[in-house]
Amino acid sequence: MKELQIGNLKVKLPIIQGGMGVCVSLSGLASAVANEGGIGVISAVGIGMTEPNYRKNFKKANKIAFRKEIRKARAKTDGIIGANIMMAVTDYEDLLKVAFEEKIDVVIVGAGLPLKKPIYLLENTSTKFIPKVSSARAAKLIFRRWSEQYNRVPDAVVVEGPMAGGHLGFKKKDGFIPKILLSSIVKETVNEIDFFEQKYGIEIPVIAGGGIYTGKDMFDIMNVGAKAVKMGTRFVTTNECDVSEKFKQNYISCSPQDITIIDSPVGLPGRVITNDFVKEIQLGKQKPINCSWKCLKTCDYKKSQFCIAEALFNAAKGDFTHGFSFAGTKAYLAEKIISVKETFNQIKNEYSQAQLGLKPENLNIELKRKAS
Ligand SMILES: Cc1cc2nc3c(=O)[nH]c(=O)nc-3n(C[C@H](O)[C@H](O)[C@H](O)COP(=O)(O)O)c2cc1C
Ligand code: SF4
Repeated sequence: MKELQIGNLKVKLPIIQGGMGVCVSLSGLASAVANEGGIGVISAVGIGMTEPNYRKNFKKANKIAFRKEIRKARAKTDGIIGANIMMAVTDYEDLLKVAFEEKIDVVIVGAGLPLKKPIYLLENTSTKFIPKVSSARAAKLIFRRWSEQYNRVPDAVVVEGPMAGGHLGFKKKDGFIPKILLSSIVKETVNEIDFFEQKYGIEIPVIAGGGIYTGKDMFDIMNVGAKAVKMGTRFVTTNECDVSEKFKQNYISCSPQDITIIDSPVGLPGRVITNDFVKEIQLGKQKPINCSWKCLKTCDYKKSQFCIAEALFNAAKGDFTHGFSFAGTKAYLAEKIISVKETFNQIKNEYSQAQLGLKPENLNIELKRKAS
């Protein structure tokens, strides 16, 4: 596997662990991934729910907990630590500020298009800014806007296909399109980004996510132009993942038929593992909501069917009566809980095996480009 380079940041292995909320990827998982040479990502959404004063002042609690987790991760690794911040949260700017103050290595921004460059992203900031999108069109829109307004562009881009876990940037019906779509989106995005690479004389890695579970998945997607992968689901069933044992076992015991789509109050579809709670909301049942704070820009608690923040936090703690877990289409492949190190070894082995089966027509497009 070739190292990933994002500007002057060198990442030994081109594997980014997807930020997973609420409280799924914190300092434990992120530092373990960073120690193996990938980018470990802390999810900032609802991170303060573990703090005692969350209901009184959720924004303050989020900032305190986020800063704490970044520092805890730093204490456990010299590797690369990132943060995932959703634009859909009402404290997006506050969380970004904390990330920049803490000199986080990478910020990945999803659930919205960051058309404006964050004011904290100064010329001398070492933090890399990476939007997460679900189409080449969205990537082009962001890059073009930045280029016109700021004469610079984001440092890389994550493209996520419809097979991912968590919120999806697709319409509900599209969520069932097979993985082939991810390779199309990656190819289209590589083509669009090529213009900005030429314009600024820099490399802008396209990172692929959504349904990338095995080293073979990784190998295949890198052969169509992705410079790295973003994997969420695969890292849930690790010792170091910051959720309860019950959450991890839920992945191990699920079957492909258990993985379903719901409408989330975020305003996007979300992929989850079904349970009674999920079945009830799919049948239209109203769940009690105690919204003492307004954490999502898009969630109108007077109309919402359930509180997604509470449901996800409950599941993270192991309460599946009052919640459910997000999961990618391949969650059912998990067999047991293993360490992050073993997970990396397995992915590397799977990747090498896929490499040995390389057919001439599958040659990396970069090699083809060079050959032509
Ligand atoms: C349990 C879980 C929680 C997630 N939470 C978030 C989140 O808070 N913010 C976000 O942008 N993406 C979130 N994601 C998406 C991941 O960051 C990643 O992009 C995705 O998992 C990649 O697809 P995969 O699960 O098929 O590997 C979540 C995914 C999972 C499985
Ligand atoms: S009801 Fe909506 S806005 Fe209120 S806490 Fe829950 S998810 Fe956040």
